[in-house]
Amino acid sequence: MQILLTGGAGFIGSHTAIELMAAGHSVVIVDNFVNSSPEAHRRIEEISGQKVPLVEADVADRDAMEALFSEYQFDCVVHFAGLKAVGESVQQPLRYYRNNLDTTLTLCETMQRHGCKCIVFSSSATVYGVPDEVPLREDMFCKGCTNPYGWTKYMIEKILMGVCDADPEWSVVLLRYFNPIGAHESGRIGENPSGIPNNLMPYITRVAAGTLEKLHVFGNDYQTHDGTGVRDYIHVVDLAKGHVKACQYAEGRQGCDIVNLGTGVGYSVLDLVKTFEKVNGIQIPYEISPRRAGDVDACFADPKKAAEVLGWRAEKNLEDMCRDAWNYQKNNPKGY
Ligand code: UD1
Repeated sequence: MQILLTGGAGFIGSHTAIELMAAGHSVVIVDNFVNSSPEAHRRIEEISGQKVPLVEADVADRDAMEALFSEYQFDCVVHFAGLKAVGESVQQPLRYYRNNLDTTLTLCETMQRHGCKCIVFSSSATVYGVPDEVPLREDMFCKGCTNPYGWTKYMIEKILMGVCDADPEWSVVLLRYFNPIGAHESGRIGENPSGIPNNLMPYITRVAAGTLEKLHVFGNDYQTHDGTGVRDYIHVVDLAKGHVKACQYAEGRQGCDIVNLGTGVGYSVLDLVKTFEKVNGIQIPYEISPRRAGDVDACFADPKKAAEVLGWRAEKNLEDMCRDAWNYQKNNPKGY
């Protein structure tokens, strides 16, 4: 298949590009580098040993997208492009809604004009909101999100469902990611958050590198086995392989499917810290701090549907995630 990756230079997009090519597909990347680097594209080519066409453009740029779809005949689009910082979305809601919705609308309109009706979307477990029970299943009611970033994912899901309802030729797969961490085993591509990281694993790797003094564990009075928050951490390479399966599934069928990409196993903040220390032989100093607003006790997937529908399940464990995340950070102390 010829597959377009919007935001293909980002953390999940870059890993997916490599796995798609390894499975024999051709990829084209469109990225405006607002939160990524052209160096990621260079390294994708280095790891894959293949040339990857790159278009530097904003997916909301109608003319640029028209030109792109005129040049290539895409069988499927994987739509990663979007702003993704939860805290920032609370400060800048209009920017988040404008960017994430505009890019999606322009993309889908362009796809429609060119008869490309197959899309895999980067959604998030955040759309489940505060869960009443875990594990989370795709058919559970989404009560609402806790921040504008989450709402953009929720709204884009609804937009794509509507597109499918209106035109049964469309094929849509909404992938709800749990907590992607880790990096490619080469140590050449990984996660590069700008500034002080908000998410747990990038924060831990900065503490391990000595750039940050200690980890603040946000709360130890949650209803979990050790009181710290439990999440479903998934290796980004497993996640990337899930996209390969999703593209293959989406092609040649019609309708809309929602699929969780998680391991089904929840680990606490302290489980992650201890595993990181053990596999990498580095102490992570931490202190217990107050809870972070909006955090829930436990969030993990029921991964059955992904196994049944996509024939996919996560293969890597928490040790792999900790080892690969540190391997990337150690080899790239300043990012790309
Ligand atoms: C968050 C977002 C989610 C997004 C995901 C990946 C919310 C409600 N969810 O998930 O939408 O898709 O990031 O970007 O914002 N923790 C610490 N100390 C830290 C950082 C985190 O103790 O310095 C704890 C948190 O309290 C939580 C766990 O680590 O229990 C994971 O946090 P994080 O990596 O930020 O991911 P989520 O909040 O689960």
